[in-house]
Amino acid sequence: MSAPPDHRPPHRPSAVVLLAAGQGTRMRTPWPKVLHPLCGRPLIGWVLEQALSLEPERVVLVLGDRRAEVERWLESSGELGRASDAGIEVVVVEQRPQRGTGHALQVCLPALAGLGGHVVVLYGDMPLLRRESLDALLAACPAGGASLLTAELADPTGYGRILRSADGGFEGIVEQRDATPAQRQVREVNVGVYALPLAGLERELAGLSDGNAQGELYLTDAVVGLARSGQPVAAVPLADVDEARGVNTLAELAAARALAQERILEAHLASGVLIEDPSTTYIDHGVRIGAGTHVLPCTVIRSGVVIGAGCEVGPFAHLRVGTVLEDGAEVGNFTECKQARLGAGAKAKHLSYLGDVRIGERANIGAGTIVANYDGKAKHQSEVGARAFIGSGTVLVAPAQVGADALTGAGAVVLRGTRIQDGEAWVGLPARKLREGRGSTAAEKPPESGT
Ligand code: UD1
Ligand code: MG
Repeated sequence: MSAPPDHRPPHRPSAVVLLAAGQGTRMRTPWPKVLHPLCGRPLIGWVLEQALSLEPERVVLVLGDRRAEVERWLESSGELGRASDAGIEVVVVEQRPQRGTGHALQVCLPALAGLGGHVVVLYGDMPLLRRESLDALLAACPAGGASLLTAELADPTGYGRILRSADGGFEGIVEQRDATPAQRQVREVNVGVYALPLAGLERELAGLSDGNAQGELYLTDAVVGLARSGQPVAAVPLADVDEARGVNTLAELAAARALAQERILEAHLASGVLIEDPSTTYIDHGVRIGAGTHVLPCTVIRSGVVIGAGCEVGPFAHLRVGTVLEDGAEVGNFTECKQARLGAGAKAKHLSYLGDVRIGERANIGAGTIVANYDGKAKHQSEVGARAFIGSGTVLVAPAQVGADALTGAGAVVLRGTRIQDGEAWVGLPARKLREGRGSTAAEKPPESGT
């Protein structure tokens, strides 16, 4: 295979390779490493976003033994569809056995056939790398040459060390286990992220040998080979070395989560969301919040939740999948929402569970209201109309319908299948009709007890 000549400006790579075939045994969990969640999104989702943001023609994902599970996530998450909408082809390549990072790139070559220009190499377990750093990598990449990211670490143990000449130019990379004691003193390490010219890369990969301490084919040797054959190679230090953090253990996952969380909160603060105490607020990736909304301490907001402007959430609120708060809605302490839509100005301020329910605008959900959405076999949908007043301690057994301007008394148990018409008031256990309202018909009887 010979790559066509290099016409593409290096700031847009023709391909991105995501290395994710490693076993991840140090996680000690039953799941593939790249499916571990970071702020509500698997690691692979974060790195795929890095890859797609560069708008390559092709993304090649290198997977190992757990390929099928990762592919299932790719399909169910809709990421493949998003990539194809952007005109980017995602190709999965299996690397078995894993004989090192250089071998991983060798296995990719058929999937890179026909492409020229540059390939960017990213790791599947490095979720915190910023787009700005990839831009710096590509901006520093000489035409036809290569570039790589480096990080100056207080403790460089385990990483490949960067060797520079007296004038500071890139000279080589040596792995910890192959390094001399003097080389191990170097604190500038190889991050493992590269922009490489496809034409030269192919030649260098062909010449790799496993004659090293780990008996592996090192991608780093291919980079050094490019430099030795006279191609310019730029080693670009990262401004923020935290971006180079890899995730190999659950402790490292927790550390990465905290950093990702900070970024998410910073973005909401910058867009006018008043987060009173970021240190006790947990907001996943992929949450939309309107300006002027208050988020009070000890609140958890999961992926996909949408919150309008001028809302109040918390303290101690838990907003789960499918929750939508329209403008000015308020959810207070010890209230959990799941697949719940609260209309504009609706309030559920204390001690409630609202699951699979649509609540109309300016409805008031009293303290201790429970929507009993699950009958032990299936979940059912309920509805509460606009301006309805749900008395404290009401249980709505789903499916239940409460009309607009209707009322339930404190402690009412509204049985499954009940339709409370507009303007009616219902009380008791089980709840029975106490007052006629606008929508009532003479034929309607309260349901029998014991449902
Ligand atoms: C590599 C670099 C080292 C650098 C370090 C940064 C080499 C030889 N060394 O170290 O200079 O400091 O990354 O973290 O490249 N992978 C595969 N297939 C394989 C081996 C690895 O897909 O056969 C993937 C892993 O899933 C991981 C990434 O490549 O995402 C890096 O592998 P890892 O073993 O962590 O890095 P090292 O080889 O130790
Ligand atoms: Mg390794």
